[in-house]
Amino acid sequence: MPRIFIFVGLILLLCLLLPPAIIARVRSTPNSNLPIHIIQDMAFQSKYKTQAVNPLFADGNTMRPPVMNAVARGETYLDAHLYDGVIDGQWANVLPSQIKMDFATLRRGQERFNIYCSVCHGISGGGNGIVNQRAMELVANTNGPVNGTVWVQAKNLVHDELVTVQPMGQLFNSITYGIRNMAGYGSQIPTEDRWAIAAYVKALQRSQNALASDVPAGTKVTDNASASPTHVQLSNATVNSFTNPSTSIAEVK
Ligand code: HEC
Repeated sequence: MPRIFIFVGLILLLCLLLPPAIIARVRSTPNSNLPIHIIQDMAFQSKYKTQAVNPLFADGNTMRPPVMNAVARGETYLDAHLYDGVIDGQWANVLPSQIKMDFATLRRGQERFNIYCSVCHGISGGGNGIVNQRAMELVANTNGPVNGTVWVQAKNLVHDELVTVQPMGQLFNSITYGIRNMAGYGSQIPTEDRWAIAAYVKALQRSQNALASDVPAGTKVTDNASASPTHVQLSNATVNSFTNPSTSIAEVK
C-alpha cells in the first residue's frame, strides 16, 4: 500500500477528533449567550411570570388570591379535637378517635419527643436539655451574657405544676401552635406524631410522679432512682394506666 494512503488515513482520523474536541471546549466555557436550542419542545412560550403585571385582571396582579371560602383538598381542619386538642371548648383529656392509645403510639411519642423536644426539655422532661445547658452557660458568663444571650428556661414538663395539671389536648395545642417563648411544631411534626408526643409527655409525668402504691403489692420499691434519667423505659404498665378507665388521663398527674 502506498505510504500516501497511510498519511491521508491518519489525517482523516485526526480530523474526526476535532468535532468532539470543539464540543467539549464549548461546553466547558462559560458564556452569557443563550445556548443553541435545536429542539424547542415547549421551552419558550408566552406566559406571565409570578410577579409580573397582568392586564387580564382588574387588580393587575398575575398571582390570584384564593377564592373566598375555598378549602384546598386535604386541608379541612374542622375536627377541633384532632387539630386543636379541644372538645366543646374544653381541653381534651383523651386522644382523638383517629389515634389509638397503645404501646406503639407511646413508643412513637418517645422517639419523636427525644428528637424534637429533648434538646431543650431534656430526655426525662425535666427542662435541662443540651440547648438549655449551653444557653445557661452563655447567660452565666462572668463578663455578662455572651453576645447578649437572653434565655427563657424550657419548662420542666414533669414537675412544674403549671404543666402537670394540663390535659393532653392542651399539651397538644402548645406543641402545635407554640406557647409564649416556645415556637410551634405544627409545620414540622405531623398531627398524629404531635398527639403521640403529648401522650408520651403524660407518660413521662406519670412515671416521674409515681407512688409506691402504683406498683403491685409485694413489689419491693428501691429509693435510688436517678433524679434525671438519661434513658426512659416504657413498659406496658404505662399504657395500661392510660387505657384502664379507673386511671383516666384526667387523674394522671
Ligand atoms: C428550642 C427549645 C425548645 C424546644 C425544642 C421545645 N420547647 Fe417546649 N418550651 C421551651 C420554652 C423556652 C418554654 C417556656 C416558654 C415560656 O414560658 O415562655 C417551653 C414550654 C413548654 C411547655 C409548657 C407550656 C405551658 O403551658 O407553660 C410545654 C408543654 C412544652 N414546652 C412542650 C414541648 C414539647 C412537647 C416539645 C417537642 C415537640 C417542645 N416543648 C420543644 C423550649 C422548647
